[in-house]
Parts: sequence; C-alpha cells; structure tokens
Amino acid sequence: MNEYIPLQAEITDIDRVTSDSYLITLQILDDVEFDYRPGQFIMVSVFGLGECPISIASSPTRGRLQICIRRAGKITSGIMDSMIGDVLGVRGPCGNGFPLGTMRENILIVGGGSGFATLRGLINYIVDKRDDFGEVAVVYGARTSQDLYFMQEYKGWQREGIKVGITVDVGDESWTGNVGMVTSLLDKIKISPGSAAMCGPPVMINAVAAKLMSMGFYRSEIYVSMERHMKCGIGKCEHCTVGPYHVCQDGPVFSYDKVKDWL
Ligand code: FES
Repeated sequence: MNEYIPLQAEITDIDRVTSDSYLITLQILDDVEFDYRPGQFIMVSVFGLGECPISIASSPTRGRLQICIRRAGKITSGIMDSMIGDVLGVRGPCGNGFPLGTMRENILIVGGGSGFATLRGLINYIVDKRDDFGEVAVVYGARTSQDLYFMQEYKGWQREGIKVGITVDVGDESWTGNVGMVTSLLDKIKISPGSAAMCGPPVMINAVAAKLMSMGFYRSEIYVSMERHMKCGIGKCEHCTVGPYHVCQDGPVFSYDKVKDWL
C-alpha cells in the first residue's frame, strides 16, 4: 500500500453526536486490509478541499471505521456537508495508538471536550475484551451537558463494570450531575493506581496528571494523546515536531514523562 495515495472510503452512516458534531461511519472500498489500534488517526481528504488528520473514534473489535467530526474549517466542513454514499479519501492508519500490550490491567481513562472521541475507541475495545482488564474507570468533562459526546453509550459501559464519571463546566436546569473540572471527580471515582489514558486540553492534562501522581500513578504510565497540527501524517514535513518527536509518527500517544514540557 502506498502511504501517499488515499484509499477510497464511502460514508455509510452519519449520526449526530452534538449540535455541531457528527459520528461518521466509513467503509473502505479498496481491496486492502485496514487494521488499526485504539488511539491511531487517519488523514481524511475531501476532493478539491484538502486533507486533515482525524482521530479514529471506533474500536477495531467492531469491524467498522468511525470518525467524529466537528466543524472547524473548510475541510471538516466539507466532511460534515457530505452525504451517505459520498466517497472520501483516507490515508493511514497513522501514529502509534495506545500501548495496550504494556498498559496495566487497571485503567483510568480521562477525557476533556472533543478529545473524548479518540478515547471512545479505547473504551469500546476494553468493553469487547473485558476479561483482559481489571478495574476500569472513565472520567469525562465537557463545557455543558449539550456538549457531551456519546451519552447514549455510558450505560452500556457501566453494565460492563466500568465506572463512569461525567462532569460539565457550566450546569443548567436540565443537568443534575457534577459541575466542575474532571479532577473534582477523581476522588469520587475510586480506582487503584494503574495506567491512565488521557486526551483533552493541555491545562486539563497537566492538572489531571498532577492529581494522578498524588494518587500513586507513575508518570511513565500516564499516556497522553497529543493534538498537533499535522500535514503529511507520516514523519516527512516537520509540521508536528515537538521536542525530539514527530507527533504523527512517534505519537500521538506519549507517556506523560516524555512530553510534559511540550504540552
Ligand atoms: S505531520 Fe508531517 S512530520 Fe508529522
């Protein structure tokens, strides 16, 4: 497979996630194996508009490829304005993904805002291989309850023995849950130290990492999915350089001890 040439991917389903986000299901049309790991991303192109990196929001255990898109520029608008049956370009999968082979069996997953999309793939992977994992907890925060991703899936995760804690920055009359930063939930969700997986704004990552280390987590076992501007996705253009790393190839998942100075 030539990593510079996009595969053709047909849109087979579109679900609204929030007022400005869609979950899009893609079917690769080319006759190739398309295997991926939770935490990897793909380069998605719209003919005539260009290409951008998008996190994979699905688990490979479910036999489909899904991305979660929010309107943020001309390419994401082009993807969101596409219809079922339209064909997009897809290069990848790119990057490393979460190191599931080395992560401990107790896993805490912490997400903030739209960064939760990449963690959904990891959570559903754990659900589908539940016997391979021990205590698992998910803590997720968004600005308001209308901004929460994948609300209809939380109960299913809880049925699999996964603790789920949700919080919003700004409550309203329709919200009876927690209001405050995700760190405020970490004391309430009791989980033994193990590995952590995070994606969200840097201020959240630093605050959560500090809290986790005070709870007994090692910084080398706190894994962070970094978001950086990417162009090529394959380590050639230097757009995503952070310290000694190419986020597109060495990441986007890094242990916190490697990237804490560049968040
Ligand atoms: S996006 Fe080009 S080197 Fe990473």
